[in-house]
Amino acid sequence: MPNAKSHAILLIMKKTILSGSTVTGDLTLGNYIGAIHNWKQMQNDYDCLYFLADLHALTVTQDPKILKNRIYSFFAQYLALGLDPQQNTIFVQSQIHEHAELNWILTCLTPMGYLNRMTQFKEKSEKNVKNINAGLYTYPVLMAADILLYQADLVPVGEDQRQHLELARDIVGFFDRAHAPGVLKMPEAFIPKSGARIMSLQDPTKKMSKSDDNEKNFVSIIDDPKKIEKKIKSAATDSDTVIKYNLENKPGLSNLLTIYSVLSGKTVAQIEADYAGKMYGHLKVDLAALVVETLAPVQLKYHDLMKNQDHLEMLMKQGAEKAKVRAAKTLKSVYDAVGLVRV
Ligand code: TRP
Repeated sequence: MPNAKSHAILLIMKKTILSGSTVTGDLTLGNYIGAIHNWKQMQNDYDCLYFLADLHALTVTQDPKILKNRIYSFFAQYLALGLDPQQNTIFVQSQIHEHAELNWILTCLTPMGYLNRMTQFKEKSEKNVKNINAGLYTYPVLMAADILLYQADLVPVGEDQRQHLELARDIVGFFDRAHAPGVLKMPEAFIPKSGARIMSLQDPTKKMSKSDDNEKNFVSIIDDPKKIEKKIKSAATDSDTVIKYNLENKPGLSNLLTIYSVLSGKTVAQIEADYAGKMYGHLKVDLAALVVETLAPVQLKYHDLMKNQDHLEMLMKQGAEKAKVRAAKTLKSVYDAVGLVRV
């Protein structure tokens, strides 16, 4: 354990990575695989902040009871996946009021024309015709506030969030010109070194996503064994019978092989050899068993954490305290630069 001083020095040298996850759906096998590949290494090499974007979840209608439960559940899922709350800063967005405050300052600097271009807003409002609220529209500004509040150097983003990160970069420029340069750090996209891309089970040309409307598209890390078996057995594959990796002609089977390979540690070639002459069904049965077995310890830890809400709240509080120190510092410089009076 480094002491406070050496810890502070390490933080100065390490680059800051920040990543948020909207509190909707459930974390998936894709998140699990991304986590085991990257987190251990990342938490050694970088100063990592992870947060639950609960304010972002409000852009769609939420049932208060379900939302509340999901916030605890997501927090527990992150810990169960192996994120160390001591080594990283893990927190809940709404517990740091500075997000909402910086959001307002940045909203006043962002031209509507920039928001009109956001493709995710267009897609989401087409899907959500009954609830096209202003939050859905200004959501990317809140995301910029999340990033800029912590002076993040790097933000791991998938394709769907790239445009939002670009906007955050534009907003740094607006702030620099309107107020003072150097107050907000310019963030960059972070592409993790390793990590297989896990695709949807029913439509293997798109990524496995936690907020997919069709549950059959993903395995959630807290699905029970029966559900996992059912989902893997019904994964879409082609009508051929030879078990051979081929992304173009057999995207579904190839996705299953990728999952198998990552979870078993065997190469795809080894698995192909093991299944020579066997049917897709054999592979699916074994893969389902492997997924169940892999997730068992994660689920055990998850259920254990969920039994003790006080303990979870204590960990949230510790995370929030660490995050708060940094957020408050940035907000103070921002308010100073903008010309607001602090007393
Ligand atoms: N918008 C992101 C998503 O839907 C979640 C998010 C909110 C985020 N704020 C962020 C991601 C800041 C990275 C950085 O996935």
